[in-house]
Amino acid sequence: MNILLIGGGGREHAMAKRIVKSTLCDKLFIAPGNAGTAQCGTNVSLDIGNFHEVGDFAEAHSVHMVVVGPESPLVNGMCDHFSGKDSLKHVLFVGPCSRGAMLEGSKDFAKGFMNRNGIPTAAYRSFTRDTFDEALDFLDTLNAPYVLKADGLAAGKGVLICSTREEAVEGLEEMLHRERFGKASQTVVIEEFLKGREMSVFVITDGKDYRILPAAKDYKRIGDKDTGANTGGMGAVSPVPFAGKKLMSRIEERIIKPTIRGIQKEGMVYRGFIFFGLMICGDDPFVIEYNVRLGDPEAEVILPRIESDFTALLKAVAEDSAGSAELKTAPGYALCVMLASGGYPSEFDKGFEIRGIAEVSESELFFAGVESSGDRLLTAGGRVMAVTARAGNLRDAREKAYHDARVIDYKGKYYRRDIGLDLIPFL
Ligand code: AMP
Ligand code: GLY
Repeated sequence: MNILLIGGGGREHAMAKRIVKSTLCDKLFIAPGNAGTAQCGTNVSLDIGNFHEVGDFAEAHSVHMVVVGPESPLVNGMCDHFSGKDSLKHVLFVGPCSRGAMLEGSKDFAKGFMNRNGIPTAAYRSFTRDTFDEALDFLDTLNAPYVLKADGLAAGKGVLICSTREEAVEGLEEMLHRERFGKASQTVVIEEFLKGREMSVFVITDGKDYRILPAAKDYKRIGDKDTGANTGGMGAVSPVPFAGKKLMSRIEERIIKPTIRGIQKEGMVYRGFIFFGLMICGDDPFVIEYNVRLGDPEAEVILPRIESDFTALLKAVAEDSAGSAELKTAPGYALCVMLASGGYPSEFDKGFEIRGIAEVSESELFFAGVESSGDRLLTAGGRVMAVTARAGNLRDAREKAYHDARVIDYKGKYYRRDIGLDLIPFL
């Protein structure tokens, strides 16, 4: 099969590495890709927001399957474009249609879906500029802290947790009146604050049957002990030691199954990943958010643990036979440390030479913001690369990943020192 993978981050490098391992894969194209995916296949500089351009490329290069990494082409209808065009509808497609992708593309839609389908989530209401006064009244029915969410896609930055009512009012004004997140915050979801432990569960589905992928925990804040600004993710661990059999079966019964039933009932074409961002309160799981893709850097710890043929799994899902696909997961732990550029997630410089890769001995590297220049590798983004190590236990995986995180060097290198530390008491 010729396969076209959409995206260009660490997640797509991890996907590309697994896709090309399969004997099912003849040619792999990655659009736009990065210096890591270039080692797995052919990078093509397509505008992934231009579906005609992507479709024309797929036709011209006899692409049999498209696999989408990031959410925005899905929310904007890439799957619908392929299924709606005679010359493309035979192409296998991994990624939901735009209505399915609204589970991530609109928080208000996602909350409505959860309520209609009996899926546990925080109490909420949605507001616009016209209902600002009602939003203030709703705040009075809640206790601090207050959670405000921009309805639309906001690159992971659209959530404000406000510790006082004054802060919440200020946040609401900024979102609704001053378009702090542009169009994404024309509608704001205000919801109850849930206190608990966060984790993420991933499923791959054909919209009817599903397979549960390894669970993971990520570390979103820039600073150790979860301090400072939110980022795309500074590290991840899989599996999650506090998620035993009992909790996983509650998650499956209360959250995964009703979600898949809802997708069917509401007639969504959904062949792809579902990422459940969960809060575990006591022993009870609640959905904080849906994403319609794999996480980044969660993919960089999940995929290294999948031992069976990943391409065969993707193909089965795209052909509506998820139920019969093989999925074998390695025991033990995978832990990844994200190396970032100094200053990220605010301003940072790039173009610094990356050294030490040849000395990495214990880990697998997944490039995010890396570009090649002749035979040198240069930093090219806020998150530079994920260093992932596997071991039979969490402590050893940590030690190995941190060993190699130290070995790699470039000007301004920054990484969190505490990935996985909070999980050690649960072992
Ligand atoms: P999101 O962008 O939806 O993942 O939200 C960002 C972060 O905000 C989450 O990872 C949680 O830590 C936090 N968060 C979101 N919703 C809630 C909630 N209802 N209660 C407590 N924390 C929340
Ligand atoms: N690491 C969180 C995300 O991919 O949304």
